[in-house]
Amino acid sequence: MKKIVVGITGASGSIYAKVLIEELLKRGIYTHVIFTDNGKKVMQYETSLDIEKWMKLLKEKYNHIKAEDINNLFSGVASGSYKFDAVIVLPCSMGTLAEISNGLSKNLLCRVADVALKENRKLVIVPRETPLNAIHLENMLKLSKLGVTILPAIPGFYHKPETLDDLVNFVVGKILDNLSIENELFKKWEG
Ligand SMILES: Cc1cc2nc3c(=O)[nH]c(=O)nc-3n(C[C@H](O)[C@H](O)[C@H](O)COP(=O)(O)O)c2cc1C
Repeated sequence: MKKIVVGITGASGSIYAKVLIEELLKRGIYTHVIFTDNGKKVMQYETSLDIEKWMKLLKEKYNHIKAEDINNLFSGVASGSYKFDAVIVLPCSMGTLAEISNGLSKNLLCRVADVALKENRKLVIVPRETPLNAIHLENMLKLSKLGVTILPAIPGFYHKPETLDDLVNFVVGKILDNLSIENELFKKWEG
């Protein structure tokens, strides 16, 4: 079974993370979920979701989900000896991006990203900010040069989206494609 860590920060667009987590769980992928403090607050604000209730429902439905405590640096995922396959930071704030690109491991999410880097495991950063300043761009470039996938939350329009779900599914589908996880979340371009 694959093991994937999903980190949710206080950038706009946590709806993407909700859909990604549900898609991973449906496919039987063991999913660790880490919220930053502001990640929880912004998700609550943007989606009006009762996060605790949603996590409880997921835990009742699936036994392959683990909610991690951002302050628990004793968690299994904090160590390179715990074999997770990938880390997705979605959405990634410019603050967390800066911490990861500077190797700060002050909370569990930044530590897990650091472990992925040191162990040469898959790390996907889904940044969300606009416009971007030179600090943001330099941080992304630095990570890209280390093999990190920078996959901005920028939906395309060539699949003719009609609903908000179509836009969200496009970005989540791109992330799953990047992880080589088959999906039909958006219609692939066939020329
Ligand atoms: C409603 C709301 C939306 C935000 N959207 C973004 C965003 O899109 N990108 C970003 O970098 N920061 C955004 N922020 C600011 C971050 O939440 C803030 O910088 C925070 O310190 C990030 O910390 P974290 O990475 O630990 O969650 C937003 C804040 C709020 C309140």
